[in-house]
Amino acid sequence: MTRFNKPVFKFNPYSGFAGVATSLLVLLLVVLPAVTLVTGCAEQVKVSGDDTQLVSKNVTKGGREAIYPDDRPSEPDGKVVYEKLSCAECHGADGKGVSGKSTLDLTSKEYMRKQKPIDQYMFLAFGKDGLTHPLTLEKASSQQTWNLVYYVRSLATPLLPMGTKDYEQVVAVFGGNCAVCHGPKGYGDGPLNKYNVLEPNPANFQNYRRFYDRTDDVLYDHIANGIKWEGMPGFLGKEDKAKKVKFDEAYIWKLVAYVRAFHSTNKSLLAASGAAKDAQADSAKPDEAKKDEAKPAGETK
Ligand code: HEC
Ligand code: HEC
Repeated sequence: MTRFNKPVFKFNPYSGFAGVATSLLVLLLVVLPAVTLVTGCAEQVKVSGDDTQLVSKNVTKGGREAIYPDDRPSEPDGKVVYEKLSCAECHGADGKGVSGKSTLDLTSKEYMRKQKPIDQYMFLAFGKDGLTHPLTLEKASSQQTWNLVYYVRSLATPLLPMGTKDYEQVVAVFGGNCAVCHGPKGYGDGPLNKYNVLEPNPANFQNYRRFYDRTDDVLYDHIANGIKWEGMPGFLGKEDKAKKVKFDEAYIWKLVAYVRAFHSTNKSLLAASGAAKDAQADSAKPDEAKKDEAKPAGETK
């Protein structure tokens, strides 16, 4: 018993504590002003807004900051960019590579599932040390670079083709098994989370930045095995009897492709701005909403 009453730790005010206190003081006096100085400067250098400006080499050279897309990146629009920038010269029209130019196989699922969209964007936009590679921002916008990223990904891991039976079935399976938490449109606002009871909130699939920072392998792991302590159940090996679906590996990959379809698209955005009337009606909606929001602000100016 007495053993436990002995002081285990002897407090020596002269060596331990004082030493720590002085170094803390030094840290506060020296490091803090230095940090504020640096961040203060960085804020002044930042360039905001205008997309055409950011395409200029002078602005992107130092910053190397990703510019996120205004609209969901489009696979078919990326194909147009792939052709325009002659990517096929070294990677082939099919992405399998041209001998003597590039040995990389862009159609390999194993390779592509380990790639984060954001890393691919940064590579195409700014290149990487030790490799001479065309820089897309010299000839195309950042939105087009994102389209290109998703086209390149589609060479190995395409989004689910919309309008097909396969697609409709996954929509229904998502509705029956995932939407209760993630919401039918993927915003993380399903009925189970009505009163914000889930902590953390179910992932918002419409959060571009979050999902551009994920590999398909990670999404697969999260859907197959769940996320411990976070309320995301694992689905591998389970069954949706009503819809006669077994959540085997192949089906989990379908769900990955479906989750990707919340923040990228296999519809052409170019076509939407072109002649097709119904496509126009589709794309006019968000613009009109924006206009309505902008009106009062414009009037008070
Ligand atoms: C002059 C030849 C050439 C052209 C043109 C070219 N690439 Fe590449 N690309 C390469 C080489 C070389 C590599 C490095 C991999 C390798 O050794 O084959 C590479 C790598 C890549 C990678 C993988 C990067 C990584 O680190 O994982 C992607 C993605 C890619 N290219 C896409 C494109 C796209 C899209 C275009 C069109 C804008 C393009 N490339 C144009 C030669 C080229
Ligand atoms: C009981 C509620 C619930 C259900 C049902 C559910 N999820 Fe989740 N899900 C969550 C929560 C909570 C998280 C973790 C959120 C976080 O980490 O911020 C999550 C995370 C995820 C992630 C990981 C996101 C990331 O950043 O890596 C994916 C992918 C996902 N869910 C897909 C699905 C799919 C597909 C289904 C249906 C087959 C499903 N979820 C069903 C609650 C749920």
